[in-house]
Amino acid sequence: MNTKKIVIDLLQENLSILSKEELTKVLERPKLDQQGDWAFPCFILSKIWKKPPHLIAKELSEKIQSNDFSKIVADGPYLNFFLNKKTVSTSIIGEVLEKEENYGTYQTGKGKVITIDYSSPNIAKPFSMGHLRSTVIGNSIANLAEKNGYHVIRINHLGDWGTQFGKLIVAYKKWGHEKKVQNQPIKELLHLYVKFHEEANQTTALEDEAREWFKKLEDNDQEAITLWKWFREESVKEFEKIYQLLDVRFDSYHGEAFYNDKMEEVIKEMEKKEILESSDGADVISLNQYDLPPCLIRKSDGATLYATRDLAAAIYRKRNYSFAQSFYIVGHEQSLHFQQIKLVLKKMGYSWFEALEHISFGFILKDGKKMSTRKGRVILLEEVINEAIELAEKSINEKNPGLSNKKEVAKEVGVGAIIFHDLKNEKQNNVEFSLQDMLRFEGTTGPYVQYTHARACSILTKADSFEWNVNDIMGLDDSYSWHVIMKLAQFPENVERGFLKRDPSKLAKYVLELAQEFNKYYSQTKILTQDEELFSRLALVKAVTLVLKEGLRLLGIKAPNKM
Ligand code: ARG
Repeated sequence: MNTKKIVIDLLQENLSILSKEELTKVLERPKLDQQGDWAFPCFILSKIWKKPPHLIAKELSEKIQSNDFSKIVADGPYLNFFLNKKTVSTSIIGEVLEKEENYGTYQTGKGKVITIDYSSPNIAKPFSMGHLRSTVIGNSIANLAEKNGYHVIRINHLGDWGTQFGKLIVAYKKWGHEKKVQNQPIKELLHLYVKFHEEANQTTALEDEAREWFKKLEDNDQEAITLWKWFREESVKEFEKIYQLLDVRFDSYHGEAFYNDKMEEVIKEMEKKEILESSDGADVISLNQYDLPPCLIRKSDGATLYATRDLAAAIYRKRNYSFAQSFYIVGHEQSLHFQQIKLVLKKMGYSWFEALEHISFGFILKDGKKMSTRKGRVILLEEVINEAIELAEKSINEKNPGLSNKKEVAKEVGVGAIIFHDLKNEKQNNVEFSLQDMLRFEGTTGPYVQYTHARACSILTKADSFEWNVNDIMGLDDSYSWHVIMKLAQFPENVERGFLKRDPSKLAKYVLELAQEFNKYYSQTKILTQDEELFSRLALVKAVTLVLKEGLRLLGIKAPNKM
């Protein structure tokens, strides 16, 4: 339920002179509880009516009436609205209990497709903390898009093509061992990759060899293809372990290599449209008119590029999925790349170029520095996740040694800690990597919210045979309940805002606030006392569990009933 909307509808009935949009803009939340729930500043009318605002407030307070409000009073130039706590809380709790996990679901995107390109790690390189950001942000934005009614296609655009495979083949042939790669593929491939760069610092011959091997790969050389396929398979197996831990899935694993046979057509089209120019033997598309460097389409040796594959991918996705919007969840260091992709599509005459959206995010820093695969300055995500799970298990063993499915809960809590730590920050910020911070089980963390949910569940278990019936809810009007109820009422707007801003941190902050309000309520209220409000209190607790669980689900975090 949207209490702002109740006020706006009421004002509109009485003030046809102002539009809903204008009313939405000016309506405020008063600073103090004793000033009510919403305030309408009457200044906006005093010019039109040529009257001082305090008189207008007084006149309106005498005229406007509604059962949804216990009082509507003039306070200087403001008209203050006090919601009728009993009726409003009854209807909010009733709505949550009735709709359950569909509370806050919108139909806005009905019939529209959004493709979301996220995670997209590079084969033969470790799944780094940087890719974690794309994975958890992308997964949550995908969930939010679905909650807003869109049909979402989740795409993992694997980095499975490019000159790095030339380097890797050279390194493997010189220093690699089959057994080692089989045992610990990513670790060993990373080791080879780092070694290549160390050695290449000494001699340029290595770089030439790598270029040759990449060319062979592009020309379908048997040996090169076999090695590449093997590296890809072993890497994907390892990535899938991580996706399983994070409980993230994809509809498509079409990586860069998938577009190898789809670029020729695109390049022909560029030639036909006379936008391809040659520059030092390479083919480029000039973006001079937009003050951007040209987009390189084909190198002088005929090799295609990351951008070429992204152009083919965008066209393929438009044809295949006929998307209304197409998101790319990628760090902000690639913003020039995506600007170029969009403008090349524009030059090709595709009006849908505007549907492409680069949703960017900051770096994860380690000791204040950007992480780099080449220098081996990476943190292996799988190790971090496993450490988090171990720590979660330790803390559960202390707090609740009798818990039956400890392993499963420890996994949900450890992973939840990592995801929440990432999502609670506005995504543009750079995040300093800190295992300690991530794994704090109190304060502003995922485990705190999960724990609040479990605590609320245990109250319901104690209440035993609680079955709700909307006619039995009486509404609650004490200040602690009311703060919880107002938070419940704000869930839908946060679902909407989180999607429109493409920012899950809005929702993360929201579930945190709901958990905090509930804990205040819990510490001040004897919930299970036998009195006429018992049923209403249980209904409120139940509503809180539903919204916390759904909020966490949208973030990609599980909500165990016990922990
Ligand atoms: N593999 C790339 C990287 O790790 C990200 C790919 C993002 N998606 C895309 N369509 N370009 O940097």
